[in-house]
Amino acid sequence: MNDRIKGIYERINTNSESFLGYPLAKDFSYQEFAPFLDVCLNNIGDPESPSTLAIDTKDIEKECVAFFADILSTNVKDAWGYITNGGTEGNLYGLYLARETFPDAVVYYSEATHYSVKKNLHLLNIKNIVVRSQPNGEMDYDDLDQILMLRRDKPAIFFLNIGTTMTEAIDKLDEIKRIIRKYAIKNYYIHCDAAFLGLIAPFIEPKPKFDFAEGVDSISISGHKFIGGPIPSGVVLVKRNHRNRIANSISYIGAMDTTITGSRNALTPLFIWSFIQKHGKQGLIERARNSQKVAAYTEKKLKEIGVNAWRNNEALTVVLDKPSEALCHKYQLASEDGIAHIICVPGIEKVQIDLFVEDLKREKQQLITQELV
Ligand SMILES: Cc1ncc(COP(=O)(O)O)c(C=O)c1O
Repeated sequence: MNDRIKGIYERINTNSESFLGYPLAKDFSYQEFAPFLDVCLNNIGDPESPSTLAIDTKDIEKECVAFFADILSTNVKDAWGYITNGGTEGNLYGLYLARETFPDAVVYYSEATHYSVKKNLHLLNIKNIVVRSQPNGEMDYDDLDQILMLRRDKPAIFFLNIGTTMTEAIDKLDEIKRIIRKYAIKNYYIHCDAAFLGLIAPFIEPKPKFDFAEGVDSISISGHKFIGGPIPSGVVLVKRNHRNRIANSISYIGAMDTTITGSRNALTPLFIWSFIQKHGKQGLIERARNSQKVAAYTEKKLKEIGVNAWRNNEALTVVLDKPSEALCHKYQLASEDGIAHIICVPGIEKVQIDLFVEDLKREKQQLITQELV
């Protein structure tokens, strides 16, 4: 490693230790896959069709998809999926299938939705309406009701957040279904953006409704968030009949062209697979519980020093009034509209929270002293 690259590595290593504001688990090591860095790898095309280019990890990818199908209450007979480059691609894919199913539909999504969704809708050129959010980040169902009252004749695509970016709010599927019934909407598609919570929500009580047992059409989850990893990744799962609608066979690659990109990452399926082998469902349950405990601790500690801190139910995301720029910078806290958040992902322990709380306490005391002078 030359000095410049070494410097970059050291900066990343130090900063990975200290960030508190992003949903990226830190407790991973994929050193065992280092030999794969010296060979050509490519999961080109559909994970289920072998390609003439046989340098893939599709068998492993399919096992990962089967695991996700299971935790999302379906199976690989009824559902199909692939390992994406991240949550954004999975959302793009879900919206793409939705548009292919109902070309004249309107997409309804809340204002707390991740910024990338607007761009996805622009790329796909789908009509869309932003629905107001409640203060906790959940969709405002009364607003959705009002909007649909005027558009009940149109097919509808509901884009739901199963954990919003800023406050980890969950849009209630039951409320959406109630409105669908109220206006007798026959043609609709439901996509769930479970970027962060997709690997947590199946294991918490009460379990949020968002999976295939509830009749949703597609779900996108990020891989580098709750699993963690050095390369962004994700998984998208869809009802198999939606995927069949868009499948094209391409002779050049000898595979079906069903994915957004042609060439696809063959390394990230190995990372996800090794996580599944190591942790399994039981490990995920424990991981979610531990993270919830750290989040509860964080909320309590912040409140003890007089900070306005709160969480949606048992969320891993603790929302607080935005601290100074200096502290946001030091702990890499994302902020928006006067609030910031700490996301208690695996790898963040109470000691790191204590350091942050101490810094914040000191800053608050300095402010009081300055005001007195
Ligand atoms: C709710 C939500 N959706 C989508 C995304 C985008 O996911 P990715 O960064 O994996 O593309 C994020 C990222 O933070 C998110 O929080």
